[in-house]
Amino acid sequence: MYDVEEVRKDFPVLGLEINGKPNTFLDSAASAQKPKAVLDKMMDIYCREYSNVHRGSYLLSEEITTEYEHARQKVQKFLNADKAEEIIFTRNATESINLVASTWGRKFLSNKDEVLISEAEHHANLVPWQQLRDEIGFTLKIFKIGDDGSFIWEDFTKELNDKTKLVAVTGMSNVLGTVFPVKEIISAAHAKGAKVLVDACQSVVHQKTDVKDLDCDFLAFSGHKTYGPTGVGVLYGKTELLQAMPPYQFGGDMVDVVTYQKATFDVPPAKFEAGTPAIVQAIGLGEALEYMMHLGLDNIKAHEDELVKYMHSRLPEVQGLHEIGTAEGKGGVFSIVMDGIHPQDLAFVLDKEGVAVRVGHHCAAPLVHRMGYESLTRASLGLYSNHADIDRFIQALKKAREFF
Ligand code: ALA
Repeated sequence: MYDVEEVRKDFPVLGLEINGKPNTFLDSAASAQKPKAVLDKMMDIYCREYSNVHRGSYLLSEEITTEYEHARQKVQKFLNADKAEEIIFTRNATESINLVASTWGRKFLSNKDEVLISEAEHHANLVPWQQLRDEIGFTLKIFKIGDDGSFIWEDFTKELNDKTKLVAVTGMSNVLGTVFPVKEIISAAHAKGAKVLVDACQSVVHQKTDVKDLDCDFLAFSGHKTYGPTGVGVLYGKTELLQAMPPYQFGGDMVDVVTYQKATFDVPPAKFEAGTPAIVQAIGLGEALEYMMHLGLDNIKAHEDELVKYMHSRLPEVQGLHEIGTAEGKGGVFSIVMDGIHPQDLAFVLDKEGVAVRVGHHCAAPLVHRMGYESLTRASLGLYSNHADIDRFIQALKKAREFF
């Protein structure tokens, strides 16, 4: 039984008052709050064990190296990857995608190829491919989504063909909440000989992710959205792909033999982790994933699905409110506009009521424009969100309605 009130006690920040009102944190899609277990673990490492990894021949360094590699194993377990070596620690999902573009993309894409992405991509899964296209000359194709934000199978398959070398798609839109049928996308792409990269930033938090079952080639997510710290992210890649890819950056810890003339490189994951990594952050991320696994990804999903239903039962109470993105089975991300109220003004009123939301293009400007807007106000849920958060959100929206 998922007891959200018990869960909330693990997140000290949720107990704060904001502008004299209870903290109604509805911006977890931008960055999630951290449970005490993560904060305690990081504090403990700094106080008890801190040193560099893979380099010291003394006890503290051996201990922290074990912790760091243990964190990699936790990510492996979380994603059900075959091997811990398939998990690369990066700075964030953006860096994970840039890594694939710069290494796999530069080596394996040519001007005869096509890369296929969707209209719903975050800038992080759009701009790296535009940049690489300008360098290499491949065709960057963008398949359409429905006006309600839904994934449309025919619009995807229409653009997929024998020239497609990579399909790079979001698992769940950070603007519309649409959950993409990633497993089916991967299977169709593989049938055409294409590799698939999943931007799992949003999806990995809200549902169980099994890279073996999905059979994805690459998958990226950020630590800070999965209740872990900032400064660390994950790239999952299949072993044979990681082995075939050149390094991303060059320097310490990723080399095998170095002379003044040349260098040879270590095997993955070290090959892709040049320099001192975000050690404590990676360990904190491992703890965050453990926390989610302990609560149970299916329980988290059931809880959030129930809140999505509740939100949808309450939103119609607010006059002149429109939800942008209403695809069947969407996750807990609600982008809205209100007739006669600028999104920035709306956010101002919400903030005064202690309600935190994000306003703007949500790092997906082409998508927001495609939906017909310049700016949207977005409320997003986390595993600690509850019915009272939604009640206060609705109440604050009604207050804004009265003002304008
Ligand atoms: N990509 C994050 C968001 O959707 C920052 O807000």
